[in-house]
Amino acid sequence: MTRLGGGVLSLFWSPLCAVGSHGPGGPNAQICVSVFGASIVPERPRLLVVLWKGNFTHDLVREAGTLAVSVLAEGQEGLLAPLGLRSGRDGPKLGGLDWGLTPEGDPVFGGAAGQVRGRVIEGFDLGDATAFLVGVVGVVDGRGGPLRWQAAQRVVGEAFLARWAEKSARDRAAAAGLLRWLGDGAG
Ligand SMILES: Cc1cc2nc3c(=O)[nH]c(=O)nc-3n(C[C@H](O)[C@H](O)[C@H](O)COP(=O)(O)O)c2cc1C
Repeated sequence: MTRLGGGVLSLFWSPLCAVGSHGPGGPNAQICVSVFGASIVPERPRLLVVLWKGNFTHDLVREAGTLAVSVLAEGQEGLLAPLGLRSGRDGPKLGGLDWGLTPEGDPVFGGAAGQVRGRVIEGFDLGDATAFLVGVVGVVDGRGGPLRWQAAQRVVGEAFLARWAEKSARDRAAAAGLLRWLGDGAG
C-alpha cells in the first residue's frame, strides 16, 4: 500500500452532483462527489450527502433542512467552475446558468442526468464536514450518462485544474485540523 488518497479510493467518489439549497439571500449550489444511496426500502429512499463545513451550501442545508441534487450529465463540465470553485458567500453565483427552483425553493439544473429533492432527517458531525441523511421526496429522471470527476478532469482544461489544485490545498489544510479520526471517539 503506497498511496492513501486517490487510486482505489477514488472509485468511491459519486457522480459529480450539484447540491443546492436556499436561504434568506436566495438559492445557492455547490459541486459534490459525496452523494450516496442510503436505503434498501424503495418507498423510503434516502441519500447521504457529505458537505464540507466551510461551504456556504452546507450552512444553507443545515438551516433550511432541504436540498436538491442534480446529477450532472456528460457535457455539463461547464458547471464545475461556477459552482465548484467559487463560494456563494462571495456573492450570487447562479447568474447565467440554466436552473429552476423546486417547490422547496432549492435550485436544480437543466440538462442533468437526474434531479432529486430531499429533506434532512439528521446531520452527522464528521468534524470537517456534515453527513446529511436525507429523505427523498421527489425525483426527476433526466437524459444522458452521469459525469464523473475522473472523466471531467480530462476536459476541464489547465486553468481550471490549476485553480482547483490551489483551492483543494486550502480546503485540505483546513479539514486536516478538524476532521474526526481514529482514536478521537469511543470506537
Ligand atoms: C470536482 C469537485 C468535487 C467536489 N466535491 C465536494 C464534496 O464532495 N463535498 C463538498 O462539500 N464540496 C465539494 N467540492 C467543493 C465545493 O463545490 C466548493 O467548495 C464550492 O465552492 C462551495 O460553494 P459554496 O460555498 O457556495 O457552497 C467539490 C468541488 C469540485 C470542483
